[in-house]
Amino acid sequence: MTSQFDHDQHKFEVEWDTAAIVERRNTYYAASQRAFVPYQQPLIFSRGQDNYLWDEKGNRYLDCLSQNLTISVGYNNPVVTREVVQQAQTLQHCTTMFFHPVPAHFAEELTRTMPAGEEWTVHLMNSGAEAIDMALLLARSYTGNIDIVALTNAYHGATFGAQSVTGISGFRHNLPQLGGVQFAPVPDQYRGIHGVGVEPYLSDLEGTIHYTTCGRLAGMVLEPIQGYGGIVPLPEGYISGAQERVKAAGGLLIVDEVQAGMARTGDSFWSFQQHGVVPDIVVAAKGIGNGFPLAALIVKREIAEAMSQKFYFHTYGANPVSCAAGRAVLHLIEKHELQQRARKVGAALLAMLEDLASRHEAIGEVRGRGLMLALELVKNRSSKEPDPETMLRLFENTRANGIVASKSGAYRNVLRICPPLCTQMEDAPIFEEAINSSFESL
Ligand SMILES: Cc1ncc(COP(=O)(O)O)c(C=O)c1O
Repeated sequence: MTSQFDHDQHKFEVEWDTAAIVERRNTYYAASQRAFVPYQQPLIFSRGQDNYLWDEKGNRYLDCLSQNLTISVGYNNPVVTREVVQQAQTLQHCTTMFFHPVPAHFAEELTRTMPAGEEWTVHLMNSGAEAIDMALLLARSYTGNIDIVALTNAYHGATFGAQSVTGISGFRHNLPQLGGVQFAPVPDQYRGIHGVGVEPYLSDLEGTIHYTTCGRLAGMVLEPIQGYGGIVPLPEGYISGAQERVKAAGGLLIVDEVQAGMARTGDSFWSFQQHGVVPDIVVAAKGIGNGFPLAALIVKREIAEAMSQKFYFHTYGANPVSCAAGRAVLHLIEKHELQQRARKVGAALLAMLEDLASRHEAIGEVRGRGLMLALELVKNRSSKEPDPETMLRLFENTRANGIVASKSGAYRNVLRICPPLCTQMEDAPIFEEAINSSFESL
């Protein structure tokens, strides 16, 4: 097909000089977008392949962050690129007022990842926070109740709605948050207020419902493994116990799988499946698009129907290019057994971290599942006093040793290690050497 613009061969200038990139960003980015920078010196990426990244000077890094867990099947994945290019060359957008087969296929394929025995439907949009907002709205519309319970130490996004259920002060702005949200203490087995156990935390949840809500709930929202909270896995028995209590109060279980879902934890496609529960609403984003803006609310049909009469529209929701990426991701995870690989490679990396912990007192705990791992630094193993200062140095060392990871946790003392699902066993020794050297040079 020819286009009236074919003759325009304009070459867009891209200046790769380090100082120029920093200067341009500092001049033209708003403060809000400039503020979140992990390393002391800017890290500029020029390209990526599979689970490796290169900076503008040609240095290679083993990616252990996946661009905040979005790159699931790897950088420059030829199947994703092929599907995206093909779709972009035919139709770049088709709003949901009109019909297009690609998003509909993707929705169907997503529902196939969900537990059998329920009729699942999908609402496609662009970001995790947008999907969390919709989950809160939908739970309230369906139940007719207002109160939502969330967990302390949770991160669900930056919009007004998502921020209102985020339980870490660093992510909450100084304003009256949306009403109707109460927090229950997270059952963190390392740092939680009751230490190890499930029942005391479930009693707290009962208390939260009984004393701080009207007794009738719209729902409870939780991450089976808290991500930005520092990779905090909820213990077995908590989610099912919470669901019982929330259901008894008329509410729905909303599971945020934005970080832990899409095969990352290795034992199942969705992390809630390891807890023997079937949620009412599942929020997915990040890894389902391999970097393309894509999020989904996967909801039981009966619940989704609550919004059939009300206008709720995302201009870019169900974008066919993003959905083409999403279809490629689902295909690749299944065809190349990336879930099984996440389990195997994750177990090898975890063993390396445990070995490291046996040699370094500064590591208070190593934890995680599949390719969602973390190590937490403390000043003293008995007092568990967080050690963000040593983390700062360790973090810079990991970069110098060719790993990209992230600092997280409410005290910024947790190293989050979440590589792309395509990471291979051959990469494990590279990781081991880099993390060992990072500790040795502390
Ligand atoms: C668990 C979780 N939920 C929701 C979100 C919000 O997603 P987004 O940044 O795409 O709005 C995030 C983002 O990091 C997340 O980690």
